[in-house]
Amino acid sequence: MSDPQPIHLSDYRPPAYLVSRTELTFDLAPGTTRVKARLHLERHPEREAGAPLWLDGEQLSLKAIAIDGQPLEEGEYELTRKGLSITGAPEAFVLDTEVEISPEDNTALSGLYRSGGMFCTQCEAEGFRRITFYPDRPDVMATFSTTVIGDLTREPVLLSNGNPVERGELPDGRHFVTWDDPHPKPAYLFALVAGDLKKVEDRFTTMSGRDVTLQIWVEEENLDKTDHAMGSLKRAMRWDEEAYGREYDLDLFMIVAVNDFNMGAMENKGLNIFNSAAVLTHPNTATDAAFQRVEGIVAHEYFHNWSGNRVTCRDWFQLSLKEGFTVFRDQSFSAEVNSAPVKRIEEVSFFRTAQFAEDAGPTAHPIRPDSYIEIGNFYTLTIYEKGAEVVRMLSNLVGPETFRKGSDLYFSRFDGQAVTIEDFVDCMAEVSGQDLEQFMRWYSQAGTPEIDAFGEYDYANSRYRLILRQRTPATPGQPEKQALHIPIRLGLVGTKSGRDLSMTLDGESLGRDAVIHLREDEQEFIFTDIEEAPVPSLLRGFSAPVKLSFPYSREDLAFLMAHDSDGFNRWDAGQRLTLLALDDLIAAHRNGVEKVMDTRLVEAFRALIEEGNDDKAVLAEMLQLPSEAYIAEQQPLVDVDAIHAARTFIQQSLAQELRDELLALYRDNQSDAAYAPTPEQIGQRALKNVALSYLMSIEDEVAIELAQAQFEADHNMTDVRQALTLLVHSSRSDIADPALKAFGRKWSHDPLVMDQWFSLQVTRPQADALDRARYLMEHPAFSLKNPNKVRALIGAFAGQNRVNFHRLDGEGYRLLADVVIELNRLNPEIAARIITPLTRWQRFDEARQALMRAELERIRGEELSPNVYEIVEKALA
Ligand code: TRP
Ligand code: ZN
Repeated sequence: MSDPQPIHLSDYRPPAYLVSRTELTFDLAPGTTRVKARLHLERHPEREAGAPLWLDGEQLSLKAIAIDGQPLEEGEYELTRKGLSITGAPEAFVLDTEVEISPEDNTALSGLYRSGGMFCTQCEAEGFRRITFYPDRPDVMATFSTTVIGDLTREPVLLSNGNPVERGELPDGRHFVTWDDPHPKPAYLFALVAGDLKKVEDRFTTMSGRDVTLQIWVEEENLDKTDHAMGSLKRAMRWDEEAYGREYDLDLFMIVAVNDFNMGAMENKGLNIFNSAAVLTHPNTATDAAFQRVEGIVAHEYFHNWSGNRVTCRDWFQLSLKEGFTVFRDQSFSAEVNSAPVKRIEEVSFFRTAQFAEDAGPTAHPIRPDSYIEIGNFYTLTIYEKGAEVVRMLSNLVGPETFRKGSDLYFSRFDGQAVTIEDFVDCMAEVSGQDLEQFMRWYSQAGTPEIDAFGEYDYANSRYRLILRQRTPATPGQPEKQALHIPIRLGLVGTKSGRDLSMTLDGESLGRDAVIHLREDEQEFIFTDIEEAPVPSLLRGFSAPVKLSFPYSREDLAFLMAHDSDGFNRWDAGQRLTLLALDDLIAAHRNGVEKVMDTRLVEAFRALIEEGNDDKAVLAEMLQLPSEAYIAEQQPLVDVDAIHAARTFIQQSLAQELRDELLALYRDNQSDAAYAPTPEQIGQRALKNVALSYLMSIEDEVAIELAQAQFEADHNMTDVRQALTLLVHSSRSDIADPALKAFGRKWSHDPLVMDQWFSLQVTRPQADALDRARYLMEHPAFSLKNPNKVRALIGAFAGQNRVNFHRLDGEGYRLLADVVIELNRLNPEIAARIITPLTRWQRFDEARQALMRAELERIRGEELSPNVYEIVEKALA
């Protein structure tokens, strides 16, 4: 076998043939399923006569093939491991094929596979080629008719895209349903589900008065966990009408929950398939975070109906066209239906931790990559989240009304087509009259831009001079970078008044909160008529996905924390202040010097609690210390132990100094009200639980009693899980073990709760975490074949338990590599994702680097899937 080869964006050519209509028949059986396909093909108008037809096909056993009813002889087509080509076919014709596939043996969860007792599909990006021979690329859009034949008892429910048009019984206890999807779509949006499923049904009337049936299909025991997803769906449908003028376009919209799924969910036309973790909620089993995640993902998949399905991608290099835009849409939706500032804080703190790390690592790539080996490896934080940040910048650049005009133009101009990122940006340029040429570099340049800012107040002339310098570090394949167009929202906060000062730049009045545009490597901005010395509040709302540094003093930061009119930057000032204190403590730890708590930080936190906040969720965020992963991102060389020690020291010092305040905060936010996932309740619980986590960090008797009482009260999963986590993460096995056992026994029947049970054990900071992880891998509820379990146990250990994953004996790395090697055979997509922490070896000391590289080399010695091959090669390059 030769090494897998990359494919390049610059090699794009339209396909030789288009498919106008696809007719499929599935005769389902777990061992051998028969798939008949009839494709109506015609030559692409832009392709030359004689260009051969290429059909992708993998792991298919071909049983029959015919053109216009005439069976083909063996020499009339060429069959390889990757597909089938036919030379000399007519300009337009009908192709019939029949293949056999084995859903039962499909552990990759791509194509048609079994999950529990049911059949389901996942075709994005290139799974349809595991179902039948087909031009499996998004620029081939056809209408589909799908007949599904199954067992009346084993598969009473047979679903596919579009509308059911015919059903009937067949001999031998079999039956069928035929579905018709009138909207042309690429094969990646095809879906089929068959099994013993139950449904919850609701209705929605669209803005033009059309009546849509909404169904959520689940296993019977989960019927009580669908309310929140259904409510979220209806809110999302209404929001897309109001915010984007987009209406649903079929009479039926279905969501199905499956237990075995590689990602969160999938936007198949009219038949969204969801990881059960991304759809099922119940107050007793799901946390507030899970409720919010479900709302966001339901909306995300629904929004794809326009941004992705009606208007789709020309090729997979354009993936961010649908993903970046759709994430931006779901973020806007979630911000409107929840607490907007908290939503932004959560997004950005996740982004700066995880996407920045990706951008700084060996797999860094632009939002639109130039090449890839395996597209499955490009469903990344860069494509999704940085893509969304870039759309957000566009929306801010042209303004919300113009952005809406641009999206209207985009949807109407390209409806039913497969298009490129330029097509989208051109619409925005056209409606705004703005030149977005330099802005386009955001799509082609990888890496996180770094901005160094300096400011100076000139008392004599009442001027404030701000200097901004930008630089984007080299990334693999991109040694030189060009200057980007970076919008910087800012305010100048007067040190006397504590208020935003009005700003004048080049004689033009900007108001008190404005955007300036950095386009050069270095630019100077002179603000005039600034009556008092200001502290600049820069990059408000995280107006661009960059790292910005400014030589703030601790007094400046404490001042911004208290006075900045931008809630996001108030929070960020607190983070910056905490990071300064952490820097000292990390240094002290490394030098073996006694750690001393920064009293300014204590006073800043005391002031936060005393002042309170109308939005309790915002206050909870402000009281939260930066995560170890985020702290690590700020360090030139990551010292996991020093970071852990420094952070724990701050947490314990604050708990000691502010014990009474935190206790009061806890008690004031206790509530017996019936659970509801409202922003108010969520904020209140977050605040109470952040107080409890501080108190538990010193493990005093009062805190332990509170945590135990909260656990035993069993009021809702948010509180139970937080209490249990704190008990299990404590040093006291006498309080940890009984709670853990009780919880495990109570929920052994519920896979999603057991996922949480796995995660919270393997993330404990105590030294036995690794042994536990190994031990729990043998637990009957664990399976390497289930991606949720892999993420809950292995992903959580390697990604969130930094001190134990990075053990100096290398056992943490070995565990991860062992799992990658097994998953490489079972499920390459998951293997290639779970490996991520090992690829970040450059960030650590030499001893750890050597250990991590040795594990990567061990993996490289295996016979690798293209997925793992691509990541390991890049990591070791
Ligand atoms: N389009 C899906 C989404 O953004 C992503 C997705 C779901 C996916 N399942 C997948 C991508 C499997 C690759 C493989 O919601
Ligand atoms: Zn998506």
